[in-house]
Amino acid sequence: MLEILIFASLHALTNSVQVADVVLSCSFIEEGGGMTGAHFIRSPATVVLRDLPMSPDLSADTITPYIPPDNPSADDLIFEATALSVEIPEAESLLHADCNEQEVTCELSHYIPQGTKADSVPVHFIVSVQLEGGGVGFTLVLQTMTDENAESNTASLIQSKLQLPLSQWGTLITDVVFVVFSRSPSLVAAIGEDIVLDCGYRQRDTPTEQNLGLEWRWQYRGQGKTILDMKETESGTFLSVDRDGTSANSTLLVRDGNASLSMKKLKVSDEGTYICTINSGPFQTQQIVQMNIIEPPRVFFHENKITFPDEAPKRLSCHCERYYPLDVTVEWFSKLPSEKDSISLTDRSSLSSHRQHSDGTYSLSSFLIIRPPEYPPGTVFTCRVSHVGLQTPSDVSLTVFQPEPGQLTSLWEYYWMILVTLVLSVLFLYQASR
Ligand SMILES: *[C@@H]1O[C@H](CO)[C@@H](O)[C@H](O)[C@H]1NC(C)=O
Ligand SMILES: *[C@@H]1O[C@H](CO)[C@@H](O)[C@H](O)[C@H]1NC(C)=O
Repeated sequence: MLEILIFASLHALTNSVQVADVVLSCSFIEEGGGMTGAHFIRSPATVVLRDLPMSPDLSADTITPYIPPDNPSADDLIFEATALSVEIPEAESLLHADCNEQEVTCELSHYIPQGTKADSVPVHFIVSVQLEGGGVGFTLVLQTMTDENAESNTASLIQSKLQLPLSQWGTLITDVVFVVFSRSPSLVAAIGEDIVLDCGYRQRDTPTEQNLGLEWRWQYRGQGKTILDMKETESGTFLSVDRDGTSANSTLLVRDGNASLSMKKLKVSDEGTYICTINSGPFQTQQIVQMNIIEPPRVFFHENKITFPDEAPKRLSCHCERYYPLDVTVEWFSKLPSEKDSISLTDRSSLSSHRQHSDGTYSLSSFLIIRPPEYPPGTVFTCRVSHVGLQTPSDVSLTVFQPEPGQLTSLWEYYWMILVTLVLSVLFLYQASR
């Protein structure tokens, strides 16, 4: 498992906006060549996001200041990234992630902007930062800063892997030039709901010609398709949509960098991974938004009461109706009137197969055969259903009732009537056939 550390230091800029440095433990990923084909090499790296604006009420006590290494080494991979000209929304959630013990994944690698060569200067890197369990996800493009004093400063360290000059404290100084982000990179929705998948971008330099592209792609279990493709060019907006009730706003895309996707009337089949790709000037960067559909089951008994009019065993059926996703757990308990505790009967129960409805939801029944002598009137049977859509398991219960005396007689009368009718009809038919 990747070890994630976040340190930060708070300090005030002259304009009194509180800012912090966030330090992320990352993996630097390179494609390793070799005869055996492509594979990836991971090396530990550090990304220091400098001067991120923070809310003024953030307590300085929660923060451990970042200290650069005492003895800078040419083997260290420390990227210092200034994000003053490119806002990273909700970067503050990175600080809270540490307190909430949320895992942060940070990966970085070389990046070649469109229209540049692999060895051109300045050098670019791409950093993907994802917070597990909500928060923010973003992908940054870093650009090395051209150091005016580089000529004079011949004594500076050269990073051994990147062959790039380091600052006097051993870091690679970069500037954030492009970011694509989502403020809700993972969300849960119900069938029929209208949702907005959040995605946006910020760019340091306004591209000379306005060529902007937004693509939303859906992927699920090996399938995938582009559901929205929008291009802003000087000659107008080009748009193609491959799902009814899906839209993005081109005005907001250009004006605010808002690339959110609106989807109306969600279906089970909309579940999946959505990839928001922004194409702006030389940069093309993506952010993933995971969308899961959850529908809790409706739980009920098929029977509305239990009585044992005779010695015959009874079957109880507990129904879980129209839920999604598939995984559901059904447990059974009985509580005798003379006992304090419930006894689990789950081992004795059986399940029907799943039935899938046309809307993609499932239904399932669980059965329990009960025999009268064990369960006197007053016994309570409980069916407990657990599902990801239920905050707590859903319980339904049925109590064994004393059979009403009338019930027995009327049942016998009923059988007698059928028997008498049968005998009479047979006699009649017999007579008629003679
Ligand atoms: C796009 O957003 C703008 C600004 O909020 C709004 O005026 C416009 O009606 C929106 N366009 C569509 C097609 O929803
Ligand atoms: C982005 O646009 C969508 C509509 O397309 C809107 O619902 C959402 O609030 C906007 N996000 C921001 C941060 O303004």
